[in-house]
Amino acid sequence: MSENIGPEFYSNTKYDRETLPRGKLDLSTKPPQFKTYDSVTRVRLPGPQLEEGPGFWGLLKGRRSVRAFTEKPISKEQLSQILWATQGISKAFVPAYGGTIGLRTAPSAGGLYPIETYLCVNKVTDLEPGIYHYSVAERELELIKPGKFGKELAEAALGQSMLAKGNAVFIWTAIFERSKWKYKQRAFRYVFLDVGHIAQNLALAAEGVGLGSCQVAAFYDDEVNQLLEIDGKNESVLYLSVIGEKR
Ligand SMILES: Cc1cc2nc3c(=O)[nH]c(=O)nc-3n(C[C@H](O)[C@H](O)[C@H](O)COP(=O)(O)O)c2cc1C
Repeated sequence: MSENIGPEFYSNTKYDRETLPRGKLDLSTKPPQFKTYDSVTRVRLPGPQLEEGPGFWGLLKGRRSVRAFTEKPISKEQLSQILWATQGISKAFVPAYGGTIGLRTAPSAGGLYPIETYLCVNKVTDLEPGIYHYSVAERELELIKPGKFGKELAEAALGQSMLAKGNAVFIWTAIFERSKWKYKQRAFRYVFLDVGHIAQNLALAAEGVGLGSCQVAAFYDDEVNQLLEIDGKNESVLYLSVIGEKR
C-alpha cells in the first residue's frame, strides 16, 4: 500500500470551479444497469412487506453490531425483505439524458447504481447453501455456486468466524464503469458512499425483521473476488454484512 495514495487520490478527485467536468452525457456509452447470469438456477423472492413493522426510531436506537448468532435458520421472507431494503426498486424515473431507471430504496450518485449484491447463504429456510447474485430487476436470486462457503469467506475476512456462523453474508461489489461513465475518477469516492447507504439500510432492515447484523470491511480483497469469480479490476468487493438471529 503506497504511503501517500490516500491524500493524492483525495486531492486529485476534488471538484473546483475551474475543473468541474461539464458537457452532455452520451447515452450510447452508458454501461448496462444490471448484471445477469445465464444458465443458472433462479430463485423467485417474495415481495416486500410494506404494511406494518416496528417503528423507525426504535430501530435506530436498537441497531448494534451483532457478532454471535443462534443455530436457527432464518426465513426466505426475512432475507427477501432485507434484500429489498438494500437495493429494491421503488420508483421508475426518466433522466434528462434519456432511457429509464428504477430508483431504489438507497440513494446512489447520479442514479447509476454501481453496486452489485451477492449472498453467501448458510442457513436460510427453502434456500440451498451457496453463492448467489441478487437480480435487482427480476427480484430473483441467481445461484452461481452451490455449497457451503462460509468458512472460506471467514478465512478471506482475516479469520472472522462470525461470517461462517451467521445465516447469510451480503457481499457488495462495485462495477466501477457504471459510475465512471459520468464521474470519471471521482467515481471511486462515490461507490463507497453508495455502499454505505446500502449497508445502513441493511442494518436497520435486519433489526426490523428481528435479526442482527455486523458490517465488515476487513478482508483480503482478491480472496473474496476469487470466491465470486470477478476480476477485482472492473468489478471488486467493497464491503460485507453478516446477518443472523441474535444469540
Ligand atoms: C466501515 C466499517 C468497517 C467495519 N468492519 C468491521 C469488521 O471487519 N469486523 C467487525 O467485527 N466489525 C466491523 N465493523 C463494525 C464496527 O466495529 C462497529 O460498528 C463499531 O464498533 C460500533 O459498534 P455498533 O455498530 O454496535 O454501534 C465495521 C464498521 C464499519 C462502519
